[in-house]
Amino acid sequence: FSAHKVASMGAGPLYMRLQRLLEDAISSGILKEGEALPTERDIAELTDLSRVTVRRAVDDLVRQGRLIRRHGSGTFVAPTVSRVEQSLSLLTSFTEDMARRGLSSRSEWLERMVAAPSPDEMMVLGLSMGDTVARLERLRIADDVPMAIERASIIGSFLPDPASVTDSLYDALGKRSARPCRATQRISARNVDEREASLLQVIPGEAALYIERVSYLPNGRVIEFTRSVYRGDAYDFVAELKIPE
Ligand code: GLP
Repeated sequence: FSAHKVASMGAGPLYMRLQRLLEDAISSGILKEGEALPTERDIAELTDLSRVTVRRAVDDLVRQGRLIRRHGSGTFVAPTVSRVEQSLSLLTSFTEDMARRGLSSRSEWLERMVAAPSPDEMMVLGLSMGDTVARLERLRIADDVPMAIERASIIGSFLPDPASVTDSLYDALGKRSARPCRATQRISARNVDEREASLLQVIPGEAALYIERVSYLPNGRVIEFTRSVYRGDAYDFVAELKIPE
């Protein structure tokens, strides 16, 4: 980085020129995926720009998902997202889907508790007053890329201790002989709000897929009601089509 390089980045406000310089450094591989950016103070010194200008350029790139800010450890080049192809007709878990593609999966917990069911949960899960639900909200991450926000509601009696779910929900249900064997799924288009954007590391208003899954046990009992927001730039849903009989 240098004042000369910033000046060479064409016209426009200084923060935009610095942004272009940073974008070029990322796309040409000078700054690699996962690599730490110099501190804002260092960039300001090297480029003769004010800290305010540097912060504005970096903030915008964080909002666009090109950079990631990790509290306490600095700013890093975001990993690139490769699109994931997902079957529309197989009942699989996120963990299994990612493992099949050789990706490691993990979750950041946003909520994991037993609660009184909301009217929606009561209706979908067939619960009455006095019943409970286990609510599990997670940011689902594949190889460091945030892919989806999932809010699962499970009938409380099947998962009395949601804190026992550490990785895969379907594995935990399987251990209690309550893994779903059938599901219906509804997919619709949606734009992410501020909270979703910051969790998924995309720009607010970006396209996403909103997916509701209701899944059933072999005896026909509903067990799961999950609402998910999947990044629109990360998923292709694929189905095999047949001629109607
Ligand atoms: C998918 C589904 C969810 C389901 C989840 C279980 O992502 N959309 O409805 O709850 O898989 O995944 P895991 O077993 O990895 O927690």
